[in-house]
Amino acid sequence: MARESWSSRVGFVLAAVGSAVGLGNIWRFPWMTAENGGSAFLLVYLGIVVAVGVPGLLAEFVLGRRSRKSPVGALRDLSGSKHWGHVGLVSVLAGLVLLSFYSVVGGWILRYVGASATGAYFGTPGAYFDAISYGPAAAGYHVLFLGLTAGVVYGGVRGGIERATTIMMPVIVVVLVGLAAWVTGLPGAADAYGFYLSFDLAYVRANLLDILLSAAGQALFTLSVGAGTMLTYASYVGEDRSLPADATLVAVFNTAVGVLAGLVVFPLLFSTPNVDVATSGPGALFVGIATAFSTLPAGRLLAVGFFAVVALAALSSSISMLEIVVAYLVDERDLSRQRATAGVASVVLATGTVSAFSPTVFGFLAGTVVDVVLTTGLLAFVVFTAWVLGADAVDEFARGTRFSTGLGDAWRVLVGVVIPPFLVFTLFVGLGDVVGLSLSTWQVAIAAVAVAAVLVGVVVRTRRPFETPA
Ligand code: PHE
Repeated sequence: MARESWSSRVGFVLAAVGSAVGLGNIWRFPWMTAENGGSAFLLVYLGIVVAVGVPGLLAEFVLGRRSRKSPVGALRDLSGSKHWGHVGLVSVLAGLVLLSFYSVVGGWILRYVGASATGAYFGTPGAYFDAISYGPAAAGYHVLFLGLTAGVVYGGVRGGIERATTIMMPVIVVVLVGLAAWVTGLPGAADAYGFYLSFDLAYVRANLLDILLSAAGQALFTLSVGAGTMLTYASYVGEDRSLPADATLVAVFNTAVGVLAGLVVFPLLFSTPNVDVATSGPGALFVGIATAFSTLPAGRLLAVGFFAVVALAALSSSISMLEIVVAYLVDERDLSRQRATAGVASVVLATGTVSAFSPTVFGFLAGTVVDVVLTTGLLAFVVFTAWVLGADAVDEFARGTRFSTGLGDAWRVLVGVVIPPFLVFTLFVGLGDVVGLSLSTWQVAIAAVAVAAVLVGVVVRTRRPFETPA
């Protein structure tokens, strides 16, 4: 059977933006910004998006379009080595891990859409969230969210994913812009903007290492980079068009939606005297925001709109997580899309239920595991791109663009030489945190460079000539 493909460039870009725009933007990004020095953090974050996120995204795009395969097949076919195929399995793992907690949060959000309509949490938002967040009801809503996700993926690349995301993305932007405009009129809006976008350079200077790490983790997560999602989506790109332009578009949209979400969230929180913005943290979406809605005129209507938009954003991302694993089964195990979707959904039904019952499992997957898996995945993709695919990667980068290969060569140096030590560094620090090791920055930096060099060395020695697919 012919491989599926997007019907248009817009379809591909919107699907990729849909993957990127998600809970990472609406739930996490405003908080990270506010807690880490406001717009000074935003600058650091943007720097990492430009220097690591976009080049990494491009590496995934290049691997996907070049191979027309999902990650396992892509790494195997482009290298001619089945061992590289095994490395690609990290993406299958990533898809499963991501969905196993994301679907639980998606379930909470669906529940809040309904609860906003009835005003169920209006009296006691905190107690309400505590009561519903883990347990049988949380598991039930997780299954509902997973069902919606599977329903879209079941419909195929064009008929399911592209169709759904091209409707969802404009709706998300329009409703968010509407909400952002509406909240400008709330009391305290000016204070809110001040808090959100304050420029605290001193804070950033004093905590640079921590901030670099959180900005790096956030940049990968929010751009959906390292999981093989973007590689898989790019494998459905039929014609030649500019991948650098598409990657830039995705990053620009994604950042804009993150900033926009903050312009909605903070004025809401500042509108109620009894919400302590500085300490409510990431739980704010469910507790702080819910409190705000409960006290505002037309609060129910606005709350339904807000949580519905969050649900759409979450869904357009969860689709892309499921697609990684489904594409693997379709490409490599010869399953039909329908059977593959049903199979993966059953597995996640079980694993997600575990995190719906256990805050410990949930926190572990959503925190450390996801960071480590995405960083490892991206490391594999960039090293492969620069050192195994090499000059062909630069060709693929330039295909469909008006660039000479000069820019592509610069990009290759970035992904092959600069980014790997940076990723190894964040990986070490992340893993060090888990085992309770506290190494000095210099020790970690030197080790990171050494490991990256060994990695590149091994790859260069073992790579073989390969046939590029016609
Ligand atoms: N980018 C998504 C978000 O911001 C999460 C995601 C990560 C999706 C990795 C796919 C792959 O919510």
